[in-house]
Amino acid sequence: MQGLCPFHSERTPSFTVFPSSRTFKCFGCGAGGDVITFVMKAENVDYREALEKLASRAGIVIPEDDRYSNNSIKRRRVLDMNREAAKFFHRELMASSEALAYLEKRRLSMSLINHFGLGFAPNSFVKLTDALRSSGYTSEEMTEGFLCGISKKTGRPYDYFRNRIMFPIIDVSGEVIAFGGRVMDDSSPKYLNSSDTPAFKKSRSLYALNFAKNACSEQLILCEGYMDVIALHGAGFTNAVATLGTAITPEHARLMKRYTQKVIISYDSDDAGQRAADRAFALLGEAGLETKILRVENAKDPDEYIKKFGKSAFEKLLSGSRSRFDFQYDSIKAKNDIKTTDGKVKAASEIGEVISRVYSNVERDIYIRRISEDLGVPYESMRADVERRMRKNAASEKKEERRQILRKTEGFADSVNPDAVRNKRAAGAEEALLGILLAYPELIKEYKNSPFFLKPDEFFTSFGRRIYEAVTEENDAPFDIGVLNEKFTPDEMGRISAMIAARCDLTKNDLAAAEEYAAIIRDEHSKSLGLEELIQAKRNKLKK
Ligand code: UTP
Ligand code: MN
Repeated sequence: MQGLCPFHSERTPSFTVFPSSRTFKCFGCGAGGDVITFVMKAENVDYREALEKLASRAGIVIPEDDRYSNNSIKRRRVLDMNREAAKFFHRELMASSEALAYLEKRRLSMSLINHFGLGFAPNSFVKLTDALRSSGYTSEEMTEGFLCGISKKTGRPYDYFRNRIMFPIIDVSGEVIAFGGRVMDDSSPKYLNSSDTPAFKKSRSLYALNFAKNACSEQLILCEGYMDVIALHGAGFTNAVATLGTAITPEHARLMKRYTQKVIISYDSDDAGQRAADRAFALLGEAGLETKILRVENAKDPDEYIKKFGKSAFEKLLSGSRSRFDFQYDSIKAKNDIKTTDGKVKAASEIGEVISRVYSNVERDIYIRRISEDLGVPYESMRADVERRMRKNAASEKKEERRQILRKTEGFADSVNPDAVRNKRAAGAEEALLGILLAYPELIKEYKNSPFFLKPDEFFTSFGRRIYEAVTEENDAPFDIGVLNEKFTPDEMGRISAMIAARCDLTKNDLAAAEEYAAIIRDEHSKSLGLEELIQAKRNKLKK
């Protein structure tokens, strides 16, 4: 079974599910593993949480075991602490005439302030920290949740957000997962944001998605900033969201795709904003979202636009927002004189390239029809041209993917198995031996009685050694690959399932094959021993 990989952007499927072994593998990005790895990666949760999610879907209750629940407990503590901090900030705001005056100047109504739970971090190094401590939170929890820092001088915790308007970031289940804080003057940095915590991952969180998710059946509006989102919601565009002080990621795109089919990008109107909009456009398109760019004129951002021209003007922009495709087609027509044959051919070929990169089949077909009519080119030949270009693009994409994987596995940037470069022959044999044992666990027992049975110490790479230890561990129950999930990260699991997949493609997978690879590993040892002895001998000679 093949399909488009959810872990990287691709147009041709390389994500494969192997029903017999109940595993998956993407031959594009190298992700792989079993259903638990899948949930860990897709939902960005740890082993225990993935297990819990799957179990609850299947109606199974997992007994408590604090070996696993550490992380979910930490997450829960941070979430509770954040909620308390949000209440603290909100109370502080209500008590600060200066902060309230700032928000009034920005034309935020009281009901908007309450709706978004805005707050104020007082200009104090201890006020929040003290309040949280008296509610039983430890300094460690406060730093972990990014609410306080630790003073280098005194070693004591201090409030991280000070003298700032506070924007709580709330996820779709209503949890306060993080904060953004804005200064009230021109000082810098303008915003401080929580870094990633056990409860928050910036690259996959969107501001105001908790509200927008109820209003985005038609489309989402993606903005750059907190203030844009709040202004849009205030004007009735409750489908606006923003990333949190970071460029948009494929994870954001996937998140949006869960809630809508169409995204209107409305970034700042300056050059930087428009460049960012172009990048977002490409990324969202690759995730299969229908995407348009809306550029506000005579205002620096949507917030200012609405304040200057009102919500009906923005509404008009929205409904009239021309597609990106129309922009591109117009500029191609402007460049080429389509009254001449030459210009027409050039224009057709340029726009053909643009269409070939459109993700949706339906959309592509609509464009081909429109262009062939507009330029007077036969539909069939226009379509054939686009399809040829698509095949070409797909081929070069695959080539690029393969190149990247090769680079990864060749040890350059082999973050999973960094030792592999030091002895490639041994590392290759290790992977092969592990692949056999993992793919055919019934061989493990026989292999343990073989004269070629290796001690874990005999492995060259520490990654290989860790897997080997897990596989050969004394255990009454037969080995189950599922146990590896708790010991290895999803990236490592990807490599492990690649080892298995590599063996499954081959026919020779018996004890003799395993022994052969074990022998190679031994052989490499004696070689490297020999080398060391040689060096030692030379040293001794020099000494004499
Ligand atoms: P903007 O500078 O456009 O801010 O940055 P804004 O939200 O429109 O706020 P106002 O209108 O100036 O008050 C856009 C977003 O970039 C992130 C924030 O998420 C901000 O909302 N950002 C900006 C930072 O994270 N740090 C900064 O120092 C500046
Ligand atoms: Mn702004």
